[in-house]
Amino acid sequence: MFPSAVYSDRRKKLRHELSGGIILFLGNQEVPFNYPANTYSFRQDSNFSYFFGLDHPDLAGIIDLDEGMDYIFGNDVDIDDIIWMGVQPTIKDQAAKAGVMHTAPLTGLNEVVKNALAKGRKIHFVPPYRGETILWISDLLGIPHLELKANTSEPLIRAIIKLRMKKDAMEVAEIEKMVDVAWKMHTTGMKMAKAGVVEREIAGTIEGIALSQCGPVSFPVILSINGQTLHNHYHGNTLAEGRMLVIDAGCENDLHYSSDITRTVPVGGKFNARQKGIYEVVLNANMTATRAVKPGVPFKEIHMLAATEIAKGLTSLGIMKGDPADAARKGAHTLFFPHGLGHPLGLDVHDLEGLGENLIGYDEEVQRSKEFGLAFLRFGRKLQEGFVMTIEPGIYFIPELIDIWKAENKLSEFINYNVVETYKDFGGIRIEDDVLVTADGYRVLGKPIPKTVTEIEDLMK
Ligand code: GLY
Ligand code: MN
Ligand code: MN
Repeated sequence: MFPSAVYSDRRKKLRHELSGGIILFLGNQEVPFNYPANTYSFRQDSNFSYFFGLDHPDLAGIIDLDEGMDYIFGNDVDIDDIIWMGVQPTIKDQAAKAGVMHTAPLTGLNEVVKNALAKGRKIHFVPPYRGETILWISDLLGIPHLELKANTSEPLIRAIIKLRMKKDAMEVAEIEKMVDVAWKMHTTGMKMAKAGVVEREIAGTIEGIALSQCGPVSFPVILSINGQTLHNHYHGNTLAEGRMLVIDAGCENDLHYSSDITRTVPVGGKFNARQKGIYEVVLNANMTATRAVKPGVPFKEIHMLAATEIAKGLTSLGIMKGDPADAARKGAHTLFFPHGLGHPLGLDVHDLEGLGENLIGYDEEVQRSKEFGLAFLRFGRKLQEGFVMTIEPGIYFIPELIDIWKAENKLSEFINYNVVETYKDFGGIRIEDDVLVTADGYRVLGKPIPKTVTEIEDLMK
């Protein structure tokens, strides 16, 4: 945990953003894997973590905006628990670490909420995303689970976004440590990418590195020679010469700050001409987009810059044609780059996404597009100092999507379908870094992970 003052200060800042009532934060519970006593590894809720820091299940926090008091609710363990789990810190000791002086058993939470409801006080809460929490909050507040979403507090959501989006130096340092572990994961994965190796051998090894150095992976490892499937979690293919291997993986520490990095390498370690051609286009899009990062620039603009660079590069390879800027404006690049350029990163790998993508990533000035491709951009608004964003352009040859577009002759003024046909066996390439918005520009976080053709070939030699 950070020092207790960090959490007290975060709660104080949150209080200043809201006018009255109580804020209810439910921590996460254990979640059964295949029977009640066999649970998944415990993962605390990120908002609870941000404001209270405590990493134990079955805790709740209340911030009373009118009284100016904070509370932690939880039950101390008994001897039966100690036999199985060992001695655990008391709720009082845990709360002190978060700078909270007032504690009570969980039954006390029911009382406080009941009293607040009886007095008609506003109870602010964020959208729950786990079944256990949905039931807990639904029972506490007497709101049917299907109506919870409509009763969440937009002022609270907006206040949390305002605070959590801007990372301070301590948070950036934690993220950066996780990028450094990702360096080890990725360089190990690259060295293992030889013909005859099965994907799961690499996936298991790099997940093991995360577990041995910090904590779990920050999302299920994406690793495939079929990188054209954006989030491919199938790890049963055998690597073969001529294929490219996409590895999209990161990890998180016990504070839950995370990394999210993608590298794509040729199986065997040497790019062939066709692979090099596409790779350089993605690399240029990654670097051009990164260099454009600075406060005040709408992320949507940087996404479109990357899209234009991709259209330009694909045009030079004869896969696309016409004016690249026009092609990007009309969405022709989305046949090859159908996703967004990136997303915020922090306590969640898609930071804050549970609070609602549009509230995080868009505002009055920059609205979400409904068009294919651009609609998948999770974040479009202006960047600010302290934001940490991923920059992750890619080029994918998705045979099923190509077939649909070709049958419709879609945007054929920009696409050489006959050439595209010859790339249907290519797979995909994505290159992703974690980038801090600084006062006057950007900083790519962590120890540099081989990225250029030469750097990758040298490492894999
Ligand atoms: N790791 C999933 C993503 O890059 O968004
Ligand atoms: Mn990723
Ligand atoms: Mn990402």
